[in-house]
Amino acid sequence: MTAVTVRAPAKVNLQLSVGPLRDDGYHDLVNVFHAVSLVDEVTAAPAERLEVTVEAAATAQVAIDGVPVGRDNLAARAALMVAGRLGVEPQVALHIRKAIPVAGGMAGGSADAAAALVACARLWDDREDPLLTREDLVELAAALGSDVPFALLGGTAVGVGRGERLTPALARGTFHWVFATADGGLSTPAVYAECDRLRETRGERAPRPQVSQALMTALATGDVKGLGAALDNDLQAAALALRPSLGRTLAAGREYGALGALVSGSGPTCAFLAGSETHADELAAALDGAGVARSVVRAHGPVPGATVL
Ligand code: C5P
Repeated sequence: MTAVTVRAPAKVNLQLSVGPLRDDGYHDLVNVFHAVSLVDEVTAAPAERLEVTVEAAATAQVAIDGVPVGRDNLAARAALMVAGRLGVEPQVALHIRKAIPVAGGMAGGSADAAAALVACARLWDDREDPLLTREDLVELAAALGSDVPFALLGGTAVGVGRGERLTPALARGTFHWVFATADGGLSTPAVYAECDRLRETRGERAPRPQVSQALMTALATGDVKGLGAALDNDLQAAALALRPSLGRTLAAGREYGALGALVSGSGPTCAFLAGSETHADELAAALDGAGVARSVVRAHGPVPGATVL
């Protein structure tokens, strides 16, 4: 059996509505995911034992120092799960080529896990009569992390529960994005905890998360202005409290004409919606020149989920 390479996309949350903290430590969400053309690749090759190696993709300036290479890597845990379900030894070398910012709020680790699930299933399962169905992979994905099922699915989708229960959303056309990465990541649990803390100090009750109809209409009609106006992230205030410099990054994007500007997921990457491909080029150049980001990358969405190359 030869090596298998799978590509999986980053996400930006078009809406992240965070409800109350549940007894299991998660928050009930409405999470509108949108997959963008910033992708990691995972190559799974037969090997004596489970190994993980990581490199930054040649085209990206991703800082990979923080990525675990052992069994703590989410992709390694994905491989172990697939091996466990198929009753085989996890004899695989996983090589991860990263273009998605690490701990950046764009679900890079989840993309790697989704890619590893698909790659290992391809490597070990029977091609003609597979033991693992698509539903099985989705179930394993949900066990690995709240954002992993979406990295399998891709496109634009509404996630409920802790974000893992997905329904594809109707979306017309292609949207052009600019992403401003930041130095150093933000811890997702820390940002959720800060969101709870801010609500408590303000005496706010967590809302019951609800999908934005304005957002759904903008997506269904391909209305980029409407989409820009409807972008909303309940974690943004918390990310800004923990990383005040992001306020300058968002302000710069708005000043240069972004139709929408928000922190991506738990941050610290900031996402800017452009009106067209040309506008995205201009916006990216302006943000780069303003010196408000570690790096500036362009991408479009929606794109498919984990795909075998
Ligand atoms: O599911 P995942 O492991 O990616 O979640 C990482 C952390 O993000 C959780 O431990 C939790 O602190 C926070 N989280 C949350 N509510 C969600 C999803 C994630 O509080 N719905």
